[in-house]
Amino acid sequence: MIGTDIVCLKRIEETSSSFAKRILSEREQAEMSAHGKKDEVSYLGGRWAGKEAFVKASGLLQAKMKDIEILNDHSGKPHLYYKGEEVGEISISHDDYALAFVILNPGFVS
Ligand SMILES: CC(C)(COP(=O)(O)OP(=O)(O)OC[C@H]1O[C@@H](n2cnc3c(N)ncnc32)[C@H](O)[C@@H]1OP(=O)(O)O)[C@@H](O)C(=O)NCCC(=O)NCCS
Repeated sequence: MIGTDIVCLKRIEETSSSFAKRILSEREQAEMSAHGKKDEVSYLGGRWAGKEAFVKASGLLQAKMKDIEILNDHSGKPHLYYKGEEVGEISISHDDYALAFVILNPGFVS
């Protein structure tokens, strides 16, 4: 019930804008825009790492990336949702790489 992933932000920089539209929910796309251009790559890298970490933790290898949402609260702390329900804890960090850890709630059933 634990998952992790690391993403090189240089690789994210090279992706097209359609990549963000493909993996981010509408709410995440709005949140990314609010971060401002400079931080969009970090935001997207962190979400990609977080979603991959969720897939590893849950074993849901076929999960749709848009069904996994990672949204920040007013303090900036990220929260992890699957199909609209909060399903565990997530922590994200970024520098040249984005890194995420996920721990699912014990009651989570995939
Ligand atoms: C919030 C804080 C912990 C972020 O750490 P950072 O090293 O600046 O940045 P990182 O790349 O490691 O982490 C960024 C991610 O932290 C997460 N984060 C932000 N605020 C958070 C909070 N209140 N709680 C948990 N996670 C938080 C977010 O996921 C963010 O990425 P996102 O905006 O793309 O979702 C940091 O800015 C902070 O406030 N630290 C408090 C101590 C301090 O001020 N130290 C400096 C003394 S010189």
